[in-house]
Amino acid sequence: MLRALVPREQSVDRAQPCGNPQPFPGAPFFLIISRHGTPGDILNVEIAFFLHAEFDSTWARPSLWPQAACFLVRGIHIAGQLDTEASMSLDIATSRVNGSRLNDGADLDRVAPRNVQASYDGSNVVFRVLRIETWGDLLTNLGYHKFRHPFVLLNLLSNHERAQRRLVMKSVDLLDVQHDHRVLDVACGRGKSSFIVHCLHPGATVVGLDLLDDHIQVAQTVFNNVKNLSYTAGDAMDLDFPEDSFDRVMCLEAAFHFPDRARFLREAYRVLRPGGRLVVVDFAWSTDADRAHRDDPETRAVREIWQWNSFFSVPEYERAAGAARFHVVSSSDWSDRVTRPAQAMFHCLSTLGNSRWGRRLLQRKNPLFRSFSREDWEQVTCAVRAHDHVRRYSKYMAFVLEKRCEV
Ligand SMILES: C[S@@+](CC[C@H](N)C(=O)[O-])C[C@H]1O[C@@H](n2cnc3c(N)ncnc32)[C@H](O)[C@@H]1O
Repeated sequence: MLRALVPREQSVDRAQPCGNPQPFPGAPFFLIISRHGTPGDILNVEIAFFLHAEFDSTWARPSLWPQAACFLVRGIHIAGQLDTEASMSLDIATSRVNGSRLNDGADLDRVAPRNVQASYDGSNVVFRVLRIETWGDLLTNLGYHKFRHPFVLLNLLSNHERAQRRLVMKSVDLLDVQHDHRVLDVACGRGKSSFIVHCLHPGATVVGLDLLDDHIQVAQTVFNNVKNLSYTAGDAMDLDFPEDSFDRVMCLEAAFHFPDRARFLREAYRVLRPGGRLVVVDFAWSTDADRAHRDDPETRAVREIWQWNSFFSVPEYERAAGAARFHVVSSSDWSDRVTRPAQAMFHCLSTLGNSRWGRRLLQRKNPLFRSFSREDWEQVTCAVRAHDHVRRYSKYMAFVLEKRCEV
């Protein structure tokens, strides 16, 4: 366990050097990127640190950060406490150091690690609504809905799990899987998306990968003994597969979590064989300018719920794909079928949940809602408003990218 004391006045919301390295000579140089909470709270602290053996005070100059070898700590559990003595202590329980070099100091925000588990463990009220009302147990996506605006509420009458399955099937259509292909389903959640790929293409070999061990354990238990289908825990940005080992890679509604999507694209390119295809279905800012809404209070609330740092913008996705040497075959906007209907349904639920008769109706339809208090519904309403805000500036996109055969 590594422990460091960082003076409070230097633990600011933007990346800033800690300054005096004396308290931990020879140890990694800590850099606080952001913190949340107030004094006395247990804080969530996102950090990156410079591994720079011979610390030299010139490194404290932000202008030098771009050249610094910045090692990102990913998948770490950090509990930080800000005490009344105005000092912050950080306990770093586990750390996995990934030696990626950052080219741009501004990227630090983008690559800060997130606690993905918190999105899917029931600690946020939005997840709890989804768990009770709409999400199936094994698919955790928003679904591709049958009815679009202005008939979106009709979707409430249909089965949500079917819409989720439809979203997977739409993505698999784009993948264009052939009989003998090897397919990697990156961020497969609790495994059903990979199972659907398998059912549609039983001759193909399908591997589902997810960051969370819990998800992989569920997948392995439920989809046990399925020929040609296996699951493994792993990180999308650090794929533990040799070059050219898959014909198809799919990443459905997950890349927004990845602290470094460009790195994921490079990894996908590496593991794909020439002529292979990657389908990424993800949220994206509609334009480069819309990225400015990343730090709006509403966006921050949504980022906290779903644990993400930022989206790519649509053009940025295409640029990053190009930089990873992919050819962009197509990019389609699925917002009308995915985020817009999902959001309308959430509005409807929150309106009902906030009135006495509405709650009765909901509980009658689904008795599991008896576990929801009025405060829970108030929180849902805030979350719906915050999601509305983000939806205004973003799109739900499906990108088809190809690794071209070298000529
Ligand atoms: C919204 S769920 C989508 C799951 C699945 N694709 C589906 O459609 O049901 C997002 C998933 O991304 C996974 N995830 C987040 N960050 C990841 C990473 N760096 N590497 C692999 N999986 C990750 C989460 O654990 C979660 O299961």
